[in-house]
Amino acid sequence: MVVSNSRLASEAGIEILKAGGNAVDAAVATGFAMAVTYPSAGNIGGGGFMNIRMADGRSAAIDYREVAPLAATRDMYLDASGKLTNKSVVGPLAVGVPGAVAGMNEALSKYGSMTLAQVMAPAIRLAEQGFVADSAFSRGLTGARNLLGQFEGKTVFYPGGEAPKPGSTFKQPDLARSLKLIAAQGVKAFYDGEVGDSLVAEMKRSGGIITKDDLRRYKPEWRTPIKSTYRGYTLFTMPPASSGGITMTETLNILEHFAPLPPFGSVQYTHLLTEAYRRSFTDRNEKLGDPAFVTVPLEQLTSKDYAKTLAQQVNRAKASKTPTFNINGDGTNTTHYSVVDAKGNAVATTTTLNNSYGSGVWVRGGGFLLNDEMDDFAAKPGAPNMFGLVQGEANAIKPGKRMLSAMAPTIVLDAQGQVLLVTGAAGGPTIITATMEVILNVIEHHMSLADAMVAPRFHHQALPDTIRYERNGLTGVVVDSLTKMGHTLQASTGIANVNSIMRVKGGWHGVFEPRSVGGAVGY
Ligand code: DON
Repeated sequence: MVVSNSRLASEAGIEILKAGGNAVDAAVATGFAMAVTYPSAGNIGGGGFMNIRMADGRSAAIDYREVAPLAATRDMYLDASGKLTNKSVVGPLAVGVPGAVAGMNEALSKYGSMTLAQVMAPAIRLAEQGFVADSAFSRGLTGARNLLGQFEGKTVFYPGGEAPKPGSTFKQPDLARSLKLIAAQGVKAFYDGEVGDSLVAEMKRSGGIITKDDLRRYKPEWRTPIKSTYRGYTLFTMPPASSGGITMTETLNILEHFAPLPPFGSVQYTHLLTEAYRRSFTDRNEKLGDPAFVTVPLEQLTSKDYAKTLAQQVNRAKASKTPTFNINGDGTNTTHYSVVDAKGNAVATTTTLNNSYGSGVWVRGGGFLLNDEMDDFAAKPGAPNMFGLVQGEANAIKPGKRMLSAMAPTIVLDAQGQVLLVTGAAGGPTIITATMEVILNVIEHHMSLADAMVAPRFHHQALPDTIRYERNGLTGVVVDSLTKMGHTLQASTGIANVNSIMRVKGGWHGVFEPRSVGGAVGY
């Protein structure tokens, strides 16, 4: 089964499974297909994280996050008066060195069973022969006209000045060429070959700073997944350079001290989760960064003892305040897809260009969009980024450094050690809370996966000190009571974009995000 935000990409994964590939082969096929059919977040010009659990008990995580270019500087996004500019979000300076091609290839070579050319075949076909645009695809591009219209991708995305109409066939010949080069020559085509040359040429034309040297030096990193437990379940989550795993583990370790958790949707449930989120996000925002550059207190933050002291600080009747932390001491889109195969191998992958359609910069000749991942750094420690995250020095810009992520591809095992859930999300910092809430809905509130995915979500990230909740997701009485306890609440539109698979009697149940688009395809 494959669940992603693009039905065509899910079908690409299924094609590979049916041809005898395993979950990793299918995940990589889905990833490349997303780069064609879901250009707002699917990519070869961005990066991501993949969490793998093989049926034989091996667990692995690969970090193919972008890195800051060698010519990046700490204050590159500040103007002469020290104010933040929008250059970390739009245009060539926003681009981190892409990791997607290297990461997917590395995962394939170690855990897959097929060649790059085999798993890339569906993506190449979709780019070359085109696919039929649906209304979501068309609407997404129409909404991105201000951004994409500034760069050369406008010639492809707005043929005749308009986004492709629903029902029309959309082809990407330049992208097809790049994909074929990668399929034929391997990652070298991207990092030290023709595709990379187009990228560097685009940088030179538009005033970006990524060089051939940056591309040649890029390496994905194998990481040890964070293994934690929650009431008899085992979780495998993503370690730094993502904050996803530590923040989820710390939150769940705090919540374990409150058994059973209060009912879903209640004042007490919302209060307890908020108080746990507040504490884990405070640690995240202050202490986490690329482990190659800063010392990350992973063991402490994920320890049960530490969570106990935090749980003891929670007042059941009153909101606490987010402490000010030592800053010296993350219209948006990402996409998550979940894959399982018949043998029980499981893969959870999250990938992104950061904002929808990334920096807007499109590589002429290469046919693909580049990320604006540089905004995930604390461009000015102490000042909020695009997601309102206030982060510290640990996540300041340095050449070659990975910007801290919230991506949280997660695999949950049941008490028998079998894969129960494969999940993860898009949505900046809400990735962490939404993924965790879907997991809690299943294992604490005993919801079906369909209910767990539809259930209203809320979010708190330490600062701003506000509970963001889906409009009508909390009743008026609950909102009132929480306000009286000292919380500040803000109603919002749909929170996060989750794609999940769950083991059910006799097979698997896949559910794509009910608030968005996608496809859950199995056989
Ligand atoms: O790595 C991160 O945490 C962000 N770049 C993710 C961005 C995101 O999820 C935007 N999506 N909806």
